[in-house]
Amino acid sequence: MSETTIIMHASELVTLRGPKRSRAKAEMSDLSIIPDGAVVVSDGAIEDVGRTESILKEHDASGVERLDASGKVVMPGLVDPHTHVVFAGSREFELDLKLKGKTYLEIMAAGGGILRTVGDTRAASEQELFEQSAARLRSMISHGSTTVEAKSGYGLDKDVELRMLRTIRRLGEELPVDIVPTFMGAHAVPQEFAGRPDDYVRFVAEDVLPAVARENLAVFCDVFCEAGAFDPDQSRTVLMAAKALGMGLKVHADEFSSSGGAELAAELGAVSAEHLAKPSDDGIMAMARKDIMGVMLPGTPYASMGGTYPEARRLIDIGVPVALATDLNPNCWNESMQFTMSLACYMLRMTPAEALTASTVNAAAALGLEKKIGTLERGKRADIVVMDVASHAMIPCRFGTNLCTLVMKDGKVVWTRGPAPRP
Ligand code: NIG
Ligand code: FE
Repeated sequence: MSETTIIMHASELVTLRGPKRSRAKAEMSDLSIIPDGAVVVSDGAIEDVGRTESILKEHDASGVERLDASGKVVMPGLVDPHTHVVFAGSREFELDLKLKGKTYLEIMAAGGGILRTVGDTRAASEQELFEQSAARLRSMISHGSTTVEAKSGYGLDKDVELRMLRTIRRLGEELPVDIVPTFMGAHAVPQEFAGRPDDYVRFVAEDVLPAVARENLAVFCDVFCEAGAFDPDQSRTVLMAAKALGMGLKVHADEFSSSGGAELAAELGAVSAEHLAKPSDDGIMAMARKDIMGVMLPGTPYASMGGTYPEARRLIDIGVPVALATDLNPNCWNESMQFTMSLACYMLRMTPAEALTASTVNAAAALGLEKKIGTLERGKRADIVVMDVASHAMIPCRFGTNLCTLVMKDGKVVWTRGPAPRP
C-alpha cells in the first residue's frame, strides 16, 4: 500500500521549479510560486504540485491524508551546507572577551578558539559527542533543516577525526535528517605540531585521509585556507590528496584576508568556496567562470563581532551562484537557517527570494544534491516545511521566532509545533 499525503491550500507553494542546477543572477529571484497550492507526496517522493483545485480534481483524495496549510507558506526543506555541528563543550566565556574588544588571536591565547574545542572534543566519550551533537541537530530539524552538512576538524589527530566522522554517520542513521560528511583535518594546526604546519599537512594527506577513505567516511574534504591557518600550497596538498581519493572539495576561503582561497577553489574545481568576506576580484571572476558556489555565512561576522560581512550582492551581480549556511560552531552557535536568511537580507542586502533560493536549491547544489532535493518538483524527495506566514517575504522579516509549524522528511512528518499554551 502506498502512503500518500496531500498538503493543500498553501497561500504560497514555493516550488523553485526550474533548471536542475544551481541558480545564478536573476534566476535566484524566480521562486515559481503557486498560489493556493498543493503538493502530493507518495512513498517519500513528490508526486505532483499544482493549484489545490486542480490537484483535488486529478488525484483521488479519498482515504488520503490531507494537511491543510491555509494562510501558510509551503516550501522545500531547508538545506544547511556548512556546519561544524559535531563538537563537545561550549565557549560562551568568549563573548565577554569579544565585548572587551579582544581579537580572535587574543582569544586563542586566552585559551579559547578552535583549539579549546579540540581539547573538549578529544576529552568527550563517543556517546557524549553523539548526544551533544544530536541535541543541536534536533533543534536544527525543528527550525526546518532537512539536510545538513557536518565537518570533522575538532580532533586534529587520527583517532578523534575518525571518531567525529563515525559520529556524523551515526547521527544520520538515527535522526530524521540527511547529513553530508566532510573531512576537515586541516582546520587548525594542533599543539603537537605547533610550528611544524608542513609536517601536519603531510600527516593529514598521507595518513589520516587514506584512513577516512578506507572507511568511506567523507563525501567532501574542506581546508581552512587563510593566513594563520593553511596557505594555498598547504591547502592544495591536502585537497589534491582528497581528490585522488575521490572526495569532492570545499574551501574555507578569504574569511579575514585575500588569501588565494577563491582562486584555489576555482583551480581545483571545488564544488564551493565558503565565507568569502575578502575575496580578490580575480578569485570571484574565476569562481563565476567555473560555476563554483559561493557559500555565505552571515552568522559568523555577527558572532565574531568585528568580522566583515561577505559582499553577496557583488558576487550575485558578477554571476557567482550563492548559497547560505549557518556555520554552526561554538563561536557561532546558530542552529537556524531562518535567522541566517534574515541576516542575509538585512546585512548582505539579498532579497527574500534570493535568500530562499540560497537556502534550498543552491544550498543543495553546494552539496552536489540539486537533482534530488531543494525544489518541490515531481520526483524529488519529499523534504518539505510549512511556515506560519502567508508570504515568503515575511520569513526574513520575522526574525527571532521559529516560523516552522511542520517539517516533513522523506514524506514523513518528523516535527510539528505543538499548540501554544493559553495564558
Ligand atoms: O568556519 N573559520 C574557521 N572555522 C570555523 C570556526 C570554528 C571555531 O571557532 O570553533 C568557522 O568559522
Ligand atoms: Fe566553518
